[in-house]
Amino acid sequence: MAFEPSPVARQRPRVLSGIQPTAGSFHLGNYLGAVRQWVALQETHDAFYMVVDLHAITVPQDPAELRANTRLAAAQLLAAGLDPERCTLFVQSHVPEHAQLGWVMNCLTGFGEASRMTQFKDKSAKQGADRTTVGLFTYPILQVADILLYQADAVPVGEDQRQHIELTRDLAERFNGRFDQGAARPTFTIPDAYIVRETAKIYDLQDPAVKMSKSASSPKGLVNLLDEPKASAKKFKSAVTDTDTVIRYDTEAKPGVSNLLTIYATLTGTAVPELERRYEGKGYGALKTDLAEVFTEWVTPFRQRTQEYLDDPESLDSVLAKGAEKARAVAAETLATVYDRVGFVPAKH
Ligand code: TYM
Repeated sequence: MAFEPSPVARQRPRVLSGIQPTAGSFHLGNYLGAVRQWVALQETHDAFYMVVDLHAITVPQDPAELRANTRLAAAQLLAAGLDPERCTLFVQSHVPEHAQLGWVMNCLTGFGEASRMTQFKDKSAKQGADRTTVGLFTYPILQVADILLYQADAVPVGEDQRQHIELTRDLAERFNGRFDQGAARPTFTIPDAYIVRETAKIYDLQDPAVKMSKSASSPKGLVNLLDEPKASAKKFKSAVTDTDTVIRYDTEAKPGVSNLLTIYATLTGTAVPELERRYEGKGYGALKTDLAEVFTEWVTPFRQRTQEYLDDPESLDSVLAKGAEKARAVAAETLATVYDRVGFVPAKH
């Protein structure tokens, strides 16, 4: 592998994050909670971003759909502003070290510790024990491996991932504590979660008590970026608010209105207090109609760009191949240290 990170890149702190290709279209929560930060961080950090297809198969996937959705996810990331010259964009299964380190970390994790992961508890409760795979149970540990392979300093994610980052820190410290005796440098960097408070949790438009999610009970609360903008505009216009009329940011008393203000503020780069001033004396209808327009204006070119990337699958695949090569160079180095420190006999080549 010829790639050597440039000295400039090495001087920057490193970030890593991933997104599942399960739903086809990203939703607004994915974009505002995570992807938007990824785009900004590629300017200041040595950034690694991936489409996590290994994680996707923890629930049943149709093979043709998974393949299409993986390319679709990469196309959306590029359309959102990731630049392969500024960051490393790759597909998780192209880098075998993820599964390899995942196994080692599985063997360091307590069964009870893994059982306490709330995302697993929620998902497995919904699916029932017989339909829940062991892969779903060990999902967070594969995520731990994803992060530790790259020696990431920070992991830009939404609030729902916080517990997985805490597990990552715990396991990294456990490994270092157990295996680093006398070593010149620790095996793993201990990463921090990078969670932007304002957009850490974007809520369902119909039920502002729960996060926006692809598994929403009603599709009316979920804004998919690749849906017809007219359909999404309708969802904004029928968003659930409250019986009051004042447009004010107050997550306790007015979760629905506050969610709309957060989305509006982030998409336009306007401060929330400025929006409150602008909408003083106006009704919820005006806010919703304007937000529908703001969203449509933002999403229309996004959808066009996504389609352009999809129309050129050869270029897309070559971006991902280059990304995988860069990623593997880093991942292989970490895995070699891990295998050595764990006590595996080196393979003769
Ligand atoms: P995933 O694919 O479910 O979601 C991708 C990102 O979107 C964020 N997100 C939200 N943010 C705010 N409000 C919402 N309503 C909302 N819904 C989703 C998620 O927090 C996430 O950052 N386990 C991860 C994927 C993963 C990963 C990793 C992440 C695998 N390996 C290593 C970081 C580092 C997941 O399922 O994300």
